[in-house]
Amino acid sequence: MSDTIPYSTSAPAVPARYEKAKYEDVQENIRGMFEKMRETRKGMYIYGGAGTGKTHTAYALYQNTFDKIGVYRRFWNVTELLRDIRQDMDRDRYEKRRTEDDLMEFRGVLFLDDFGAEKMTDWVLETFYLIINKRYENMLPTIFTSNFTIKELAERIGDRITSRLVETCDIVPMEGADRRLSINLPPHQA
Ligand SMILES: Nc1ncnc2c1ncn2[C@@H]1O[C@H](COP(=O)(O)OP(=O)(O)O)[C@@H](O)[C@H]1O
Ligand SMILES: [Mg+2]
Repeated sequence: MSDTIPYSTSAPAVPARYEKAKYEDVQENIRGMFEKMRETRKGMYIYGGAGTGKTHTAYALYQNTFDKIGVYRRFWNVTELLRDIRQDMDRDRYEKRRTEDDLMEFRGVLFLDDFGAEKMTDWVLETFYLIINKRYENMLPTIFTSNFTIKELAERIGDRITSRLVETCDIVPMEGADRRLSINLPPHQA
């Protein structure tokens, strides 16, 4: 598309699958926390099994961030974010997206989808620490989704990052069946 800005540091548009994610689809307790986020400055850690609707919820909130709480937003799938940061190191100076710098300066609501799923290396941990600590210091809310409980997360990424995350987030479980399995099955099998 000719109007695409190659250096844009903003997150990509909402993927087709989640364009239809509506604010009404979001659990009531999550909506309540979201609407108070500007005052509480508290983020959320939304966790649950595969297909419970975590990404759907995150995109529903993302698409309503400006309307509901009047702040800017960024959305990143964490694996894509790490890939983008890594690739940026090799880009020519004038081609750089400066994703990491952009995130470090970003003052709005940050969505990090599928947190903790990637292979943990020292570099990955340091990148998480830098982003999360920056937001911790500036009291900026982050909305995480993850397949891991806090205990499992701590085992994967350590206490240094997890304790900052827990202090700055409400921990919200998403329950229910895997929607991906039930979508294509007749009701008696779902
Ligand atoms: N509240 C909802 N209403 C309608 N469809 C939903 C809802 N929550 C999830 N879905 C759909 O179910 C599928 C799985 O949801 P997704 O958010 O991708 O799961 P997760 O991120 O927890 O693995 C997607 O196709 C998604 O659009
Ligand atoms: Mg998901």
